[in-house]
Amino acid sequence: MNAKRQLLLVRLVAWAGAAAPLLWMIYRIFLGEGLGADPTAELTHWSGFTATTLLVVGLAITPVRRITGWNSIQKVRRMIGLWAFFYATIHVAVYAALDQALALDFILEDVLTRPFTLVGAAAFLLLIPLAVTSTRGWIRRLGKNWVRLHWLVYPAAVLAVLHYELGQKTDFTRAPVTMAVVLAALLGARVWLAMRKRAAASARGTRARPSEG
Ligand code: HEM
Repeated sequence: MNAKRQLLLVRLVAWAGAAAPLLWMIYRIFLGEGLGADPTAELTHWSGFTATTLLVVGLAITPVRRITGWNSIQKVRRMIGLWAFFYATIHVAVYAALDQALALDFILEDVLTRPFTLVGAAAFLLLIPLAVTSTRGWIRRLGKNWVRLHWLVYPAAVLAVLHYELGQKTDFTRAPVTMAVVLAALLGARVWLAMRKRAAASARGTRARPSEG
């Protein structure tokens, strides 16, 4: 398969994979059995889980590309990040509109008094500048600073997974712990790849350029 076709296929698979939870939810609401006894909790769970999963998948792309040399997957990283932001926005909107009935004073109190919601809000705040600056215009305008800014995706993912863990009713539930282990492995891989790049650059007598986030 030529490179163009391979890229098209990768884009199609990534798009379908990221859109599938949305289509599944639309199907459940309009054609399926509905959302059960507590639709708000169901929507919160679905959107929060999907957003966190896509954040972690997005972070896996660069290490997988560097280790396998499969370059075309890099082209879908931005798309996956934007889908993660889309689901996170639905999650926050469901919380604010359905859970808290848009009562801003209650929302503020909840965010400021519960570490669980505070951590979630911090994750969401970090994601906003990343989504806003994901256009080609901002990439051009920010230059090297764009790469620096987009490293924020790492603390955002750490906070999202922490929020996930803190929200569990029982200790150390399997899904958030698995997510935390995968995230730790990805962070480790990035540090290792950065160190390897720096060592190679200093062996050549040049400075390693900051790599994309
Ligand atoms: C203002 C920001 C946020 C607020 C107020 C918030 C609030 C909530 C609430 C109320 C729950 C349900 C907890 C329960 O079951 O009792 C929840 C769960 C969750 N949230 Fe958030 N969240 C925020 C941001 C985020 C962000 C940015 C992400 C991910 C990118 C996220 C991921 C999750 C996950 C994974 C769950 C657990 C879902 C499950 O039940 O399995 N949240 N959040």
